[in-house]
Amino acid sequence: MMIMILKICFLLLVINYGTCAKPNILLIIVDDLKPVLGCFGDINAYTPNIDRLADKSFVFKNVFAQQALCAPSRNSLLTSRRPDSLHLYDFDSYWRSTVGNFTTIPQYFKENGYHTYSIGKVFHPGKSSNFTDDYPFSWSKPTFHPKTEQFMNSPVCVDIDGSLVKNLICPVIVESQPGNTLPDIESLNEAVNFLEQRRNSTEPYFLAVGFHKPHVPFKFPNEYLGWSRGEHGEFSKFSNYDEATKVPLIIHIPGLSTGEVISDALVELVDLFPTLVDLTQVAEALPLCPKHGNRLACTEGRSLAPYMAYKKWERWLV
Ligand SMILES: *[C@@H]1O[C@H](CO)[C@@H](O)[C@H](O)[C@H]1NC(C)=O
Ligand SMILES: *[C@@H]1O[C@H](CO)[C@@H](O)[C@H](O)[C@H]1NC(C)=O
Ligand SMILES: *[C@@H]1O[C@H](CO)[C@@H](O)[C@H](O)[C@H]1NC(C)=O
Repeated sequence: MMIMILKICFLLLVINYGTCAKPNILLIIVDDLKPVLGCFGDINAYTPNIDRLADKSFVFKNVFAQQALCAPSRNSLLTSRRPDSLHLYDFDSYWRSTVGNFTTIPQYFKENGYHTYSIGKVFHPGKSSNFTDDYPFSWSKPTFHPKTEQFMNSPVCVDIDGSLVKNLICPVIVESQPGNTLPDIESLNEAVNFLEQRRNSTEPYFLAVGFHKPHVPFKFPNEYLGWSRGEHGEFSKFSNYDEATKVPLIIHIPGLSTGEVISDALVELVDLFPTLVDLTQVAEALPLCPKHGNRLACTEGRSLAPYMAYKKWERWLV
């Protein structure tokens, strides 16, 4: 598969302290999205829904993915270990069979009583997640991949003369696409259905939804036309410049985050696992991974929970 050359870029996390004892978790990953959002100060970005969520969330403005490439950055984020300790920089290595049977974020929640489900691109699909997106270890049921993803490289873009061609960038009329939809719309519908179905359940869930856009090819509903690049004379990603590694992170915790709390603290995506464990209290705080030895569930990041609590207090004090 030649597809998916990317980094995780946008993470948006909603922790729902509902009526059940253990809070539900909705993790939204948006492939390749940089902090070019209204709520991150970009005046050209029209992102009203994300901005509305940011208005009542912790908004982290100084966050870095561990590598600007999809499989390694996702392996790192989901195991909370850096690529330089996993030694996985490629698309072909499944960490369980190459470096260690390391525990992932969803696996940890699954083992602690959660129903876990993956929609779209969460793990890098294919060989690096053993062609199963790490099911059944990470997920309670097989993962959902949109059917219309098969048309990713099909000639569906209308050329000047009306013929259909392949193109990297093409605004499309959704109704005229194969299956009358686009992959991300399928993923969104599946997520909405899942949330509806789980509405009355007392079993907590961890739902991860991975949207493909704005990863290439840019096939998107034509009402959302707008894109330009060229920083440092470079196109695409793969570099270690901020443009390739800096990502937006928004964490909403109903009941706790009522107003926008902006943070300039240095955050890395390996910090997510210990933060989630602390926020949900699903288990004791995740230990730091030892330099040597083979601990399966641990982190190379640090929890943002104490910092978030501090920011909250700081807000009340001033
Ligand atoms: C990967 O999948 C294959 C078959 O699909 C299975 O035999 C193998 O045990 C899996 N690897 C791991 C580490 O679970
Ligand atoms: C890896 O961990 C999973 C989950 O704990 C376990 O089911 C599996 O047997 C382990 N595989 C190996 C090779 O130890
Ligand atoms: C959840 O409960 C409400 C109120 O009792 C009911 O109307 C609805 O059908 C239930 N939904 C599901 C998916 O069971």
